[in-house]
Order: sequence, then C-alpha cells, then structure tokens
Amino acid sequence: MEIVELKRGIYWVGAIDWNIRDFHGYSTSMGTTYNAYLILDEKNVLVDTVKAPFFSEMLGRISEIIEPSKIDIVVSNHVEMDHSSSIPQVVERIGNPLVVTSERGQKGLEKHYKRPMNFKVVKTGEAISIGRRSLVFVEAPMLHWPDSMFTYIPEDRLLLPNDAFGQHIASSYRFEDEVGENVMKHAAKYFANILWPLAPLILKKVDEVMKMGIPIDMIGPSHGLIWRKDPARIIQTYVDWSRGKAKQKVLVVYDTMWGSTEALAKAVLKGLIEEGMEAKLLHLRSNHRSDIIEEMLEARGVLLGSPTLNNGMFPTMGDFLTYMKGLRPKGKVFGLFGSYGWGGGAVKEMRKSLEQEKFEVWEKELTAQYIPDPEEIKKAIEFGKEFARKVKNESHE
Ligand code: FEO
Repeated sequence: MEIVELKRGIYWVGAIDWNIRDFHGYSTSMGTTYNAYLILDEKNVLVDTVKAPFFSEMLGRISEIIEPSKIDIVVSNHVEMDHSSSIPQVVERIGNPLVVTSERGQKGLEKHYKRPMNFKVVKTGEAISIGRRSLVFVEAPMLHWPDSMFTYIPEDRLLLPNDAFGQHIASSYRFEDEVGENVMKHAAKYFANILWPLAPLILKKVDEVMKMGIPIDMIGPSHGLIWRKDPARIIQTYVDWSRGKAKQKVLVVYDTMWGSTEALAKAVLKGLIEEGMEAKLLHLRSNHRSDIIEEMLEARGVLLGSPTLNNGMFPTMGDFLTYMKGLRPKGKVFGLFGSYGWGGGAVKEMRKSLEQEKFEVWEKELTAQYIPDPEEIKKAIEFGKEFARKVKNESHE
C-alpha cells in the first residue's frame, strides 16, 4: 500500500470505497473515501476511523507505518458510523487506548457500541499535548451531528474538521491539487446535500475559528481529497454558499405523464433562454434528486412543473420537495407550472407545500388542460421570459 504523508509524521490511513453509489439517499457516482489520520509523536494518535467493513484496509495502512498496538489515543470527531464503526475493532486490536471525543460524542459512542471505552471528554479550546505537538479541539455541533468536533494541530497548521469541507470522491489521489477544478463540483454537491441546512451554523463556526486566530495551511476532511494548495479558498467558498450567493441561473425541474408538462417545460425554457438567462432543464426521473440540489446551489430561480395525478402533484415532485425542504435552500425564488385533465391540483399542492415552509413563490402560475395548444405554448414562452426578468430584477435589488 502507498504511504501518504501529509506533514512530517502525519499520515492518511483511511479507506477508499470505490463502489458506493448511494450514501443514505445521496448519489455517489464516484464513490467516496473514509479518511483517518495517524499522528506519530511521543503519544501516537489516530484521528477518526473508517466504516466497519473497511477496518482491515485501514489497519493495513497503519501497519505499514507502525505496529497498531503502539497507538495511544483515538480521537473520535464524529459518531456517524462512516467514521466511528471501526472504533470497537480498533479498541480491541490496540488494547485500551484513550478515546477522546466531545460530551455528546461519548454518549453517542456508548449508545452505538454498548461497550466500555477509556473516554476523555474535551470541550472547545481544550488542548492535549502529545509530545512535540498538541491537539486542540473545537466543538462543532451540527456540523454534521450534535457530537461533531474539529481537531486542530497548531504546530502543523493542520485542521481535521471531519465532515466539513469534504467531497464524495474515490480517487487514487489524496490531495485536491492533484485532480484539478472538478473537486469544486464535488465539494458543492456535498455542501448542498449535507451541510446546506446548517448554513447559519457554518457562518458562526467560521467566524469563531477566524477569531481564534488559528493559521490553517492544510485541511484534512473525513471524505475525499485533502485541501493543501489553497485551503482558504474552500473556507471562503463555504462562506459564499452559506450566505446564499447565487448567479442568474434558473432551473426548470419537472416531471410529465403524457408529455404535456414536458411541452410546457420546454417552452418555459425557451422563454428563459430568449431573455438571456442561463437555464437548465431537469426531468425528475432522469436526474437524481441530489444532482438537482447541487445545481440549485448556484441558481437564483427554480421553476417547478408537475402534471396533476389524483388531484395532487406527481409523486416524484412530492419526493423532490420533501428532500429539498429539509435542506432549506436560502435565497431562491420559485415559480410553478403544470398540466391537468379535469380538476387540476398539482400547482396548488406545490404552492401550499412551499409556502408552508416560507419559500418565496412567484404569485403568477402557468397551467394548461390536456395537451397545450399553440396559444398556451406561446404563453409558456412568455411565462419563462417574465420569470427571467423577475430573477434579473431581484438579483439587482
Ligand atoms: Fe461522514 Fe456525518 O458522516
């Protein structure tokens, strides 16, 4: 196995999950990694572990560097099982190491693994000396779970923030500068699908870390590539995303039964483009919900189209809205359209669902019965144009 040294005496000893394609509802078309870090000092430290089926892979990497029983401390930054489910095997294999975690981390680990461990609970600002270096801890509740915390090594200016700043990419490379710009697309998808609802907390945490005045020249997240070229860039990008920074771009997200809502969607798209708006057409059964959410991150406007089924919206639209509402995307304006046979109801149900959650929904709607005629298609083009002008105007406010 290759040995990856991030800093002198600090190694990546994680595992690569090449084949995972669904990460609790998030499509991981490129797989992922579970990153664990080994720090050699007077006391040897393992920061986080890997998903249980990958324990042997991690142990193999550790064994290339030191005899695993020489690990003195295991830091658990986060209880979620992709990072902690090897801890029982680690504890078994290396004896009874000190398990350093947050207060909620201890409770979570006890509830998950139901076995005694030699816990040490730490709080924000607390430091543990391990010899030449120290480990400084920063609690980061809800980034991603209430137990989450960051570990910082000041002597190496290295931040290990677990889920924050991650990306789901399985790669033979370990550093972001080895793979090029594509990494930002994966970081965006990860942020939008995992961390978007926590945007206000991210802004507070970044501010808190900045006020602590800790210099950072490398960030080792728990998934994907390590940020070593310009870690400030991903921090600033997180701030921008958390503030809802978006561009003049509109998504047309729709489903269709017999092609009528699709005809409207394409006409609406034509209107958007004719008005000079960057736009994208996304059919709900051809695009995974997590890919649409990634596209939403940089779009100011979203037009949602659904046919009426049993007096309500199409089930795929219900699925998408349920997922999207949980992620609480900020600063978007929504428009609604759809087709119906007799009673209608899809647009009404979509509006109710969005307004209940206090999303901004354009008062104007577009509907057509059965198959849209040329006049209705013209109206749909005009609807797209008008929505484009609305998005442009609001972007300038
Ligand atoms: Fe990668 Fe919240 O676990």
